Amino acid sequence: MSALLPRPRRTVADGAVLVPDWLDLGEQRRLVEACRGWARGPVPMRAARLPTGHAMSVQTVCLGWHWQPYRYSRTADDAGGERVLPVPEWLAQLGKRAVADAYDAASGAAYEPDAALINLYDDAARMGMHRDQEERADAPVVSLSIGDTCTFRFGNPDTRNKPYADVELQSGDLFVFGGPSRFAYHGVPKVFPGTADPDCGLTSGRLNITLRVTGLEGER
Ligand code: SIN
Ligand code: MN
Repeated sequence: MSALLPRPRRTVADGAVLVPDWLDLGEQRRLVEACRGWARGPVPMRAARLPTGHAMSVQTVCLGWHWQPYRYSRTADDAGGERVLPVPEWLAQLGKRAVADAYDAASGAAYEPDAALINLYDDAARMGMHRDQEERADAPVVSLSIGDTCTFRFGNPDTRNKPYADVELQSGDLFVFGGPSRFAYHGVPKVFPGTADPDCGLTSGRLNITLRVTGLEGER
């Protein structure tokens, strides 16, 4: 739900910036619609399986490169074997605009994301503290949130424990982490059911889209 008072942008750690209400409701609905399409295939949205054998509680579908714990491939080797769809140009452009708004115009112009992970959280889903470290590039990660509010825990590059900050991510919020924060531990300990404005396009749950630069061009 949009706040009555504007929520100020916030630097959570060096290189980690929260830009509240970055997507308007129309942009959120368009992204939700696009995610519905991507979830239909050719690679189905699925709960990735961890090396322990446990399924993650979030459902994921990827663009550009398929992610599974803990590697990227062009084909969805753990989910039917099809090649993933490319990152559409409009989504890459959105990523450039996100980095420009969070950092500066030059950083935005230089940003060329080649992978997107779309995560769907139901009321019970969580994501444990982890680092986005399968990429071989240190370009920032762009995170867009739609639907129910969550607690996003953003820590430090050295330990999954304190110090960390608990940040509320609401529908439409942009979070960018790069520079000294690029490999910081982060996670989602809680989603708050029923907190989204239904006009965002989701009637329940939380959608998170992260854009990344894998640095894997030419590999398989
Ligand atoms: C992620 O860490 O990949 C997703 C974070 C989020 O859902 O906000
Ligand atoms: Mn992550």
